[in-house]
Amino acid sequence: MNDAHPAATPRREPGLSRRELLQASGAGLSLAALPAALAQAAPAAVRSLKASAFAQAIRPGESTEVWGFNSSLPGPVLRYRRGDVAQIAVANALPRNAGTTVHWHGIRVPNAMDGVPQVTQDPIAVGETFNYEFRVPDAGTYWYHPHQMSYEQVARGMYGMLIVDEDKPIAVDREVLWALGDVKLDAKGRQVDDFGRLQDLGGGGRLGNVFTLNGRQAGRDRRLAVRSGERIRLRLVNTATARIFLLDFRGQRPLVVAHDGQAVEPHPLPQGLLLLGPGMRTDLVLDCDGAPGDTYPVIDRRDRGYQIATIAYERKPAVRSRALRDPLRIEANALPEPDPVKAVEHFLVFEGGLLGRPAIGMVDGKPLKIPEIMRSRGLSWTMNYVAEHEHAMLHTPMFTFRQGEHVVLKMVNETEFEHPMHLHGHSFRVLRVNDRPTRFREWRDTVMVAPRGSVDIAFVADNPGEWMFHCHILEHAAGGMMGTVAVE
Ligand code: C2O
Ligand code: CU
Repeated sequence: MNDAHPAATPRREPGLSRRELLQASGAGLSLAALPAALAQAAPAAVRSLKASAFAQAIRPGESTEVWGFNSSLPGPVLRYRRGDVAQIAVANALPRNAGTTVHWHGIRVPNAMDGVPQVTQDPIAVGETFNYEFRVPDAGTYWYHPHQMSYEQVARGMYGMLIVDEDKPIAVDREVLWALGDVKLDAKGRQVDDFGRLQDLGGGGRLGNVFTLNGRQAGRDRRLAVRSGERIRLRLVNTATARIFLLDFRGQRPLVVAHDGQAVEPHPLPQGLLLLGPGMRTDLVLDCDGAPGDTYPVIDRRDRGYQIATIAYERKPAVRSRALRDPLRIEANALPEPDPVKAVEHFLVFEGGLLGRPAIGMVDGKPLKIPEIMRSRGLSWTMNYVAEHEHAMLHTPMFTFRQGEHVVLKMVNETEFEHPMHLHGHSFRVLRVNDRPTRFREWRDTVMVAPRGSVDIAFVADNPGEWMFHCHILEHAAGGMMGTVAVE
C-alpha cells in the first residue's frame, strides 16, 4: 500500500508501504526494537495546522479539490505522550470566506479549547489564527475536525488523527492507522456540492459514493502487507459524516483492546463484526496467524459487502515461530468512576426524521409538527421535544450538572434512524444497551443508539463549562440533534 500519510513518527504510518515495511523488517521485527522504543523517541510535534483547499488524487488518475489541513488528506497525525501539553496554531486559509474551528474529539480539554463556535470561541475567520493549548490527560486514539459547518467541512476532508501514547504501550510489532470515510464524487472526480440538503438532514445523512482509507479510495487493491507471526495494533477512526461501517475481517481474528481511546478488556469482535459509527474509534490487535502468500479481505457488511482493503501476507518466513503471549490489556486512563447508585438519572428522548410517525417539537415555545418545522426552520429532529439550531447558544442547556455530580443518562431513540451520540469534554461508561447491561461497561465518548432503542450511560460531570452533546451524523446535528449540557 502506498500511503503517503504524514505521521509524527515515520514508522507508525497507516498502512505501511512496501518500502517502509522492508525497512521495518530490515530493522528486525523483534519486539525490543519496535514501538516501545519508538514511543520514547519524542517525535517532532506538529505545532500548526493550516486549513486550506488543495488537490488530492482520491481516485487513481483523478484530481479532486478537497479542504484539509497542511495540504494533506487526512491531516497530519498529531502524536503526544500522556500528560503532554499540545500547542497547535490553527490558521484559516479556506476559500469562500469560510470560518472554521478545530475540535479535539474525545480529548478531555478545558472548555475554552473545545473548538465549538459560538459556544467556546468565535469561528476563526479567513486570514486569522487561533492558538489551541491543552494538556492531553488520557492515552488513546482520538481525532480532530472542525465544528463549524461540520457536515460540509468534515465531508470536504478536514480531519486528522490524534494519538496519545500510553506510558507503557502494549507490545506490538507495529501500528497501522486507518482513517475510514467516504466522499461524494461526480464522474470527473469533483466533490458534489450538495451539502445540507433537507433529505440528508432528516434522513440517513449524506453518504459518499467512494469509500476512503487514509484519504484515498478504499478497495481490494489497498493492500496492508503483513508478515506471518506479526502482531499489529490497528487504530481505526470513522471520519465519515454519516456512513456507518460494519467491518468483517473475514478469516482473521482481531481483538478489541480500546474504544474511543479508552482501554477495554481485550475481546473478540462480537459476531465477528466491528461497528464503527461516525466519530467512533476502535483499537484492534491483530495477531497475523496466516501463512505467507495468504490474503484476507476487510469487508464492510453495511454496504453490500464492499471490500475496503486486503490483508496480504508477504511470501517470507514467519517473524516468530510461536504467537506472542504478552498481555494485550492497555493500561487504563484515570477517568473519574461514576457511581450509578448516587447518580441523578436524566432522560433524553429523540424524535423526528423523515420516516415514521411525524413527531411534534417545540419551537419558540409552540408545538409544531416536524414537517412544519422542516419547512419553516429547516430542522427535522427533536431532543426532549425541542427542535433547535446547531450551536443554539442563546438557548438553555438541556441539562445543568453540578461539578462533580454523578450522572446516569438514559437516551431513548423514538426515531427510525441510528444516532451515534457524542458528549464533549467527558468520557462515559456504557451501562445498558436496549435495557440490557453491557458486558464490558466500556468507556466511550460516542455511542450508537439503535432505532427504537435506548442506551444508558454514566459519567462524573467533572469538567466545568458548556459542552456539546450531539449526534455525530453531522447532518443530523445540523438538523436539530445538537444541544449542550452545562457543568457548573
Ligand atoms: Cu467529533 Cu462535536 O464532535
Ligand atoms: Cu443522528
